[in-house]
Amino acid sequence: MTSTQHRAKQFQAIKGVRDILPPDTVLWNRVEQTAHEVFSTFGFGEIRLPIFEPTDLFARAVGGETDIVSKEMYTMPDQETAHIYALQRSLVEWDIKSGDFQAAESFQQLAVSLLVFIMRAQQENLVELEEAGLEAVNDLTSAAKELQVLISGRSGSAHAAIWNQVAGLVERIRLASGGLVVGDDLSLRPEATASVCRAYIEHGMQTLPGNVKLYYMGPMFRRERPQKGRYRQFYQIGAEVLGPSDAPGIDAEVIEMLLAFFERLKLKGAVLHINSIGDKNCRPAYVERLRAELQKVREQLGADSQRRIETNPLRVLDSKLEHEQGIIEKLPRIADHLCVECRAHYDEVKRQLVLRGITYQEDWRLVRGLDYYMRTTFEITAPGLGSQNAVCGGGRYDGLVELLGGPATTKGIGFAIGTDRLVLSLQESGAGEVSGGPARSAGGFDVYLAWFGAAAQTAAIGLARRLRDAGFVVELPAVEMKFGKSLGLADRLKARHAVILGEDELAAGVVAVKRLADGTQQKLAEQDLFSYLRAVRNG
Ligand code: HAM
Repeated sequence: MTSTQHRAKQFQAIKGVRDILPPDTVLWNRVEQTAHEVFSTFGFGEIRLPIFEPTDLFARAVGGETDIVSKEMYTMPDQETAHIYALQRSLVEWDIKSGDFQAAESFQQLAVSLLVFIMRAQQENLVELEEAGLEAVNDLTSAAKELQVLISGRSGSAHAAIWNQVAGLVERIRLASGGLVVGDDLSLRPEATASVCRAYIEHGMQTLPGNVKLYYMGPMFRRERPQKGRYRQFYQIGAEVLGPSDAPGIDAEVIEMLLAFFERLKLKGAVLHINSIGDKNCRPAYVERLRAELQKVREQLGADSQRRIETNPLRVLDSKLEHEQGIIEKLPRIADHLCVECRAHYDEVKRQLVLRGITYQEDWRLVRGLDYYMRTTFEITAPGLGSQNAVCGGGRYDGLVELLGGPATTKGIGFAIGTDRLVLSLQESGAGEVSGGPARSAGGFDVYLAWFGAAAQTAAIGLARRLRDAGFVVELPAVEMKFGKSLGLADRLKARHAVILGEDELAAGVVAVKRLADGTQQKLAEQDLFSYLRAVRNG
């Protein structure tokens, strides 16, 4: 390579995301197809949802204090107001040194630019400010004016004396612009339950008869630390039941559907864990008791758990830290603090599971990492996944639709399966083989159609079309090759048969069919070729 030639930069997938390649995609398709089939027999219809939504939807539904929302979302400003957002950030982050009047002057000019952009965006109807927003703009305007007067009127000796006032105005501008929400931030969806509820409300689905049953599949995005079974773009297959009834039989049927799906896929070793985390009547008192107990052992806990004593004590129960396990085992248990209604609901869920012949393990520590849950929570673990062994999580979330502005009477329950983990577990247990699949779509062909000469190519194109119409997987070389090279390629592609079409065969109205496993060869008319291939296919 000479110095003037540059090797083009090679790109790699971003950390934590990956390509899913053949033959794995054959299994992925089978998994997804099975979900379509099983879920539809339970009366679920598919919903296709946007991949991004207003950030606020997730903040409200999943919870602003959760790991998912507070540190794992991929968030971006809406493009139409991106320049405003950039200016706001500059103002908020600009660190001005004491006495630096020049910087304060530039800061003031930036604040004026921000106001100009906001005004323009308002005129173009790109933003509509609510009362708090208008107040922030007014404050920003007056602080920017005062700052300008102060800076332009300063005289050499008064510098130091007015700096305190300048610093105060800078801070006012910073606060006003930081608190100003202009347009929605967007986030890639970290999960889909919030979107399903949003869609339920938006399309007035509460007027539909009975409970509404929806399922979805697709990519989700969380900026987590990547490891086996944990990705930043991962896939879920999920289902939700929304409507007026919260009958425990619904909880049990949702779980039954999940297990029917896993059984159809021949997933081995799946274990169902269940719990009830109470409702707004009984949980707050339990959380306070838990918090009080945690305070007593605070010093023995790790940093994450210490932080969670304040933000979300329930999540401490989720901790996997070895040294915290003994401490957690001694903490008060939610099961002993459920109100009468939650206790009755939970007992009935368990009875309904038994009615369906479903075995479960109760796990009082199963609290789940999203804020919208109440009463029933569940997870399914599967082998072969290392520490990330939850292949599915779900639970009840009565109240979420109301929280998002929908009818208060709407109840909800659902689950999401981590498709990446499900596929991994199927592969690890040997249940990932797709009969006839990998050979058919992963480079294994029924027929490698070798042609020699222009007339044979025309005939081969027609024959290939008819074979493919009949469902056979056919490789048709795009250019003519020498006989040996062509058959060598058929071998390397692991084709089952080479069908040879040259001038002699064309003249005789036949093709030569070579079985590549043992080299046996015969000449067949087209009709017989089809019968022969069908017989092979049907074994
Ligand atoms: P979740 O527990 O956050 O629940 O996620 C459900 C499943 O998605 C997990 O059990 C896991 O299999 C998979 N999963 C989560 N994060 C990752 C990741 N970074 N990489 C690979 N797989 C992952 C929810 O998302 C709720 N929306 C479930 C739900 C639906 N609850 C009620 N309805």
